[in-house]
Amino acid sequence: MDNNGKNENNANNENNNNKNNNNNNNNNNNNNNNNKGSDMYPPTQKVIERANIKDWDRELKKGEDIETYWASQADQFDWFKRWDKVLDTSEKPFYKWFVGGKINLAHNALDRWINSEKRNKIAILYTNERGDEIKLTYYELYREVNKMANALINLGIKKGDSVSMYLPMCPELIITMLACTKIGAIHSAIYSGLSSVAIMERINAVRSKVLITADGTYRRGKIINLKTPVDEAMLQCPTIQTVVLVNHTGRYNDIAELRGNEIFYDRLIEGEGDTCHSEPMDSEDPLFILYTSGSTGKPKGVIHTTAGYMVGIATTLRNVFDIHDDDLWWSTGDAGWITGHSYTIYAPLLLGSTTLIYEGAPDFPDPGIWWEIIERYGVTKFYTAPTAIRHLMRFGKKYSKLYDLNSLKILGSVGEPINYEAWKWMYEEIGGSKTPIMDTWWQTETGMHMIASLPVSNLKPGSATKPLPGVKIAIVDEEGQEVERGKKGYLAITEPWPAMFRGLYEDNERFKDVYWNFFPNNIYKTGDMAKMDEDGYIWIQGRSDDVLKIAGHRVGAIEVEEAFNSHPSVNETAVIGKEDPVKGQLIKAFLILNEGYNLDMPFKEGYQSTLREELKRHVRHALGPVAVLGEMVSVDSLPKTKSGKIMRRILKAKEDGEDLGDTSTLDDL
Ligand code: PRX
Repeated sequence: MDNNGKNENNANNENNNNKNNNNNNNNNNNNNNNNKGSDMYPPTQKVIERANIKDWDRELKKGEDIETYWASQADQFDWFKRWDKVLDTSEKPFYKWFVGGKINLAHNALDRWINSEKRNKIAILYTNERGDEIKLTYYELYREVNKMANALINLGIKKGDSVSMYLPMCPELIITMLACTKIGAIHSAIYSGLSSVAIMERINAVRSKVLITADGTYRRGKIINLKTPVDEAMLQCPTIQTVVLVNHTGRYNDIAELRGNEIFYDRLIEGEGDTCHSEPMDSEDPLFILYTSGSTGKPKGVIHTTAGYMVGIATTLRNVFDIHDDDLWWSTGDAGWITGHSYTIYAPLLLGSTTLIYEGAPDFPDPGIWWEIIERYGVTKFYTAPTAIRHLMRFGKKYSKLYDLNSLKILGSVGEPINYEAWKWMYEEIGGSKTPIMDTWWQTETGMHMIASLPVSNLKPGSATKPLPGVKIAIVDEEGQEVERGKKGYLAITEPWPAMFRGLYEDNERFKDVYWNFFPNNIYKTGDMAKMDEDGYIWIQGRSDDVLKIAGHRVGAIEVEEAFNSHPSVNETAVIGKEDPVKGQLIKAFLILNEGYNLDMPFKEGYQSTLREELKRHVRHALGPVAVLGEMVSVDSLPKTKSGKIMRRILKAKEDGEDLGDTSTLDDL
C-alpha cells in the first residue's frame, strides 16, 4: 500500500464492475425497509479466486441431504469417539445430533492446535478504546485455560455444574468460557450491561456456585463499575459460594477490600498447573446456557449442547466468511450475546484463526476508532451490526477516509435487517466497493447462521439471500403450509440443524409451546415474518410476536411493561417498538398512571426530577441499558381483546399510520 492508501483508493477497476455488471434479472420488488435494493451485486473476480467454495448452487445442492452434509462437516474435528447416528428424531422436538459421539470443545479449539504449526499463532488479540493490547498465542491461551480449569476444579466445580460470568470483553472471559468447556461445566454468561436484578435472576435460575466477574469495564473514557451491581445481586444469590474478581481496570488494588467469599482471579490461578485433561463430553451434553428475551414473561435460558453446536458454528463461519489461515477475524459481538459465543469466540478458535476482541464503544475516543483498529492490525474479515453502522454513518465519511481499510476482504452484518442506506455506506465507505457484505440471519436459538450468502453469491442489499447448505427454511401460513412467492408469511425452519438449541432451561413445556406447537406440522417457529422473491431470496419483514429489536438487542415487550408496572405510579403499561433511524427501534410506552400522578410532576415532594425521569431510571435499573426508552405517553385506556389481552398491534399500527387490520376481537377502541 502506498502512502495514499486511503480507503477511497480501493475503488479500483475490478471493483467498479459490481453495479455496472448488474444485468441480472432483478425485477425483485418485494423488498422491505424502503429498500432501493433491486440492484444485484455479483462477486468480484478477486473474491471468486480466493473463495474456498466457488459454486453457490452446487454447495446448496450438497446440503440437500442434511444428514450426509452435516456428517461430512463433523469430520473436521478430533473426536474421542465417533458418533453412531447422525440425527435422532425419535423424541421430537428433542432432536439429537451425532448420537453416541464423545468430543470436547476446548480440546478442539486449543489442544488440537498445540501440536500443529498453529502453536505460536495468535489466538486472541485483545485491544480496547485506550489502545491497550494483549496477544495470546494458541499455546499461551491453552496454558491459561488449563490453569483456570484446574482452579475451577479446586473450587469444587464438576461436569454438569453451572458457572455464571458477568465480565466485559476481556481475555479472562474467553479463558473462563473455555475452562468451563474443558471440564464439562456449563457456562452462563450475563451481558455486562445488565442490571443487578438480571444478574440475580440468571444466577438463581441456574443455581451457580461460582460467579466470575470484574471490577469494571472501559466505556467512552470512563470505567463502568461492575462490582456494585454484583454486590447488590449477591444479597439474593444463596447458591454462590465463591466470587472470582478480575482486577481488570485496577480499581481493586487493596486486597482488604475483598469480602470473605471473594478471591482475585490472579490469586485463584496462582500455582495452578498448566495442563488439564479435557473431559470427554457426550455429543448432547449441555455446553452453555444463554438468556434471551421472548414474547412472554421473563427471559428464557436457551440451552446449547456440544457436538452439533461445534459443527454448525465452525462450518458456517468457514463458509460464510471464507476463512483462511492468514485471516484476521473481527466480530464486534459481545460475548454476553450469542454472536459473541458463536462467532467472536468459539468458531474462530475451532478453525484455528486469530480473533480480535475489542472492549469499548465504537465512537470513542472518536468515531474513527474501529477503522483505526482495522488499519492498525490489518483486519481481513469484519462482522458487525447494522445499528453500529447507522450510528457511525452519522459522522459522515470523514473518519473512514482517514484510514487504510484495504486489508478488508469480507464484511458481515447481523442482528436485524440492514437497510439499503446502511448497506451502501458499509459497502462503499468501509469496503471500498470491493468487499461483499454477508448479511447473516440467525437467532440465539439457532446458534449458527441459517440464512446467509457465501462470498461467491450474488447479493441484493437488505436480503440475507438464501438458507445455507444443510438448512431448510420455508415461509408459511398459520397452517404451516408454504405461501406463494412474494407473499408475506411466517419464517419457519422445516428440518433440524446441528447447532439448534435443545431446550429452555427447566422449561420443556414452554420450549414446545413457543417454538414447536404453533404450526400443526410442528415445524420450528422463528418469530419472524418474511417474503421470498422470484429468485428465492428471503426478505425479513420484522417480528410476528411481541419481541422488540432495540439496537439489535432483543427485548420482550412484556418484560418492559412489567418493569413499568412495578413502579407505584403506574397502573398499566403497553409498549411497542417505534422505528428509529439509528437504533432500528426504540421503546414507546403507553402508560395508565395511578390517580394523582402525571409524567411531568416531580416524582415526590421535594424531588428535583420528574416522574418521567424517575420511570426511565426505574426501568433501566430493572432491565439495564439495553431497554432504550424513546417516548412515554400517559393514556386513559389501552386497546384490549375481549379477554383482556393488550393489543400492542393496534397501538403499533396507529403509531405507524397503518391500517388497523382485523379489530373484531377488540373490546374498545
Ligand atoms: O428478528 C430476527 C433478527 O434478530 C432475531 C434474533 O435475535 P437474537 O436471538 O438476539 O440474535 C441476534 C444475533 C443472531 C431474529 O429473530 N435478526 C437477526 N439477524 C438478522 C435479523 N433480522 C434480519 N436480518 C438479519 N440478518
